Amino acid sequence: MDFRPLAHFTAEDTWLNDPNGLIVRDGLWHLFFQNNPHGADWGNMSWGHATSRDLLTWEHHPVAIRHEGPEAIFSGSAVVHDGRLAAVYTSAYDDGRQAQSLAWSEDGTTFVKDPANPVLDRGSTGFRDPKVFRYGDSWRMVVVEADARELLVYASDDLRTWSPVGAFTDEPGVGIWECPDLFPLRLGTEEFWVLVLSVQDAEGSRVVHRVGSFDGATFTGGPPRLLDVGPDCYAVSTWTDAPDGRRVLVGWMAQPTYAGATPTTPWRGAMTAPRDLSLAWEDGAPVLVQEFSPEVRSAFSREVADLPPVALVRCGFDGDASWEFAAGPDVLRLAVEDGSLVVDRRASGSVDFHPDFARVDRVPLPSGVAEFSVFLDRCSVEVLAGSVAVTQLVFPAQPYREVRTGGTARTTIFAR
Ligand code: FRU
Repeated sequence: MDFRPLAHFTAEDTWLNDPNGLIVRDGLWHLFFQNNPHGADWGNMSWGHATSRDLLTWEHHPVAIRHEGPEAIFSGSAVVHDGRLAAVYTSAYDDGRQAQSLAWSEDGTTFVKDPANPVLDRGSTGFRDPKVFRYGDSWRMVVVEADARELLVYASDDLRTWSPVGAFTDEPGVGIWECPDLFPLRLGTEEFWVLVLSVQDAEGSRVVHRVGSFDGATFTGGPPRLLDVGPDCYAVSTWTDAPDGRRVLVGWMAQPTYAGATPTTPWRGAMTAPRDLSLAWEDGAPVLVQEFSPEVRSAFSREVADLPPVALVRCGFDGDASWEFAAGPDVLRLAVEDGSLVVDRRASGSVDFHPDFARVDRVPLPSGVAEFSVFLDRCSVEVLAGSVAVTQLVFPAQPYREVRTGGTARTTIFAR
């Protein structure tokens, strides 16, 4: 079947990975993204571009910043400076060097590279993924030395000249860090800062976050927690200048190890649904909570009896419970077992295109959680339950048509 999602962003007929340059300007949500303009595999990295007013329907624009000669355009962020949109990205050169560069746009779609590029170069090969944000009356950039697992903090007034002001490292480990994000969130009267990092090591690729504090130079935080327990949420980022102080996250819905093998054509790669972030207290500590963005919840508010190919499903339970989303022999199984949420895609459809794909995720639910939300689209399932999120890709031969429940399961299905 055509696996192209009905309510998740994909490139029109090419490859995508990380979301880049997320910024809201004049009511328009900009989504730039890692894109290969020439095919459905990773390569020729450039910034693709789309915009939306409702976070669900996207207008595609021409490639915004193109790979050129020895320079590929890796991940980064965008801010508005002196009335112009500034994209701050990593120039990844053929010789392996990675450095930070700038491109400017007057109209939000056409970009001109800064003649001073690269504006921040350490002669390093793993220096990438700048996230720029306002702090007080100047700019900050958090950027990683991927192989050293080091987060570096720089300050600037003009985005061209950057001074190092701080760093964050963890206990020594193996693997790499990518795609940092750092932002404040309030909880009651207190302000915390959340540091998000995409991590790759022997256990695979995943996103971790820490809740802590930031003084403009140094981040100090609690232990890392998984942002999403499923395999298919990576390289997440949040929108700059979202209205009403909202902090809205989107990620690349993939696992890098098999992202190049997923059975879709001519496009490959999708974004997660947009998720609004907040903090809540759990066992005396602030934890990150994700909810499908209000735009998604209000679009999917028509209660229906039969499962449509894209649906928001509310699942309630008072003890052990199970939900089987089924189409013929293909079954995606969700369950609550002994207080843990189980998402099992082993029989969900096509699973043998990669040895790591068939899998079950099992995660304890926070106490007091008695329902969760499931966003089901043609090739993905995202489960949000307070501070727990599970995202999995699925490739059923036909969209799931029915929900079979067991135990104490209650189900309400919402269509668009
Ligand atoms: C994360 C990542 C980034 C890099 C980009 C290249 O998926 O590896 O670190 O900037 O993808 O496409």
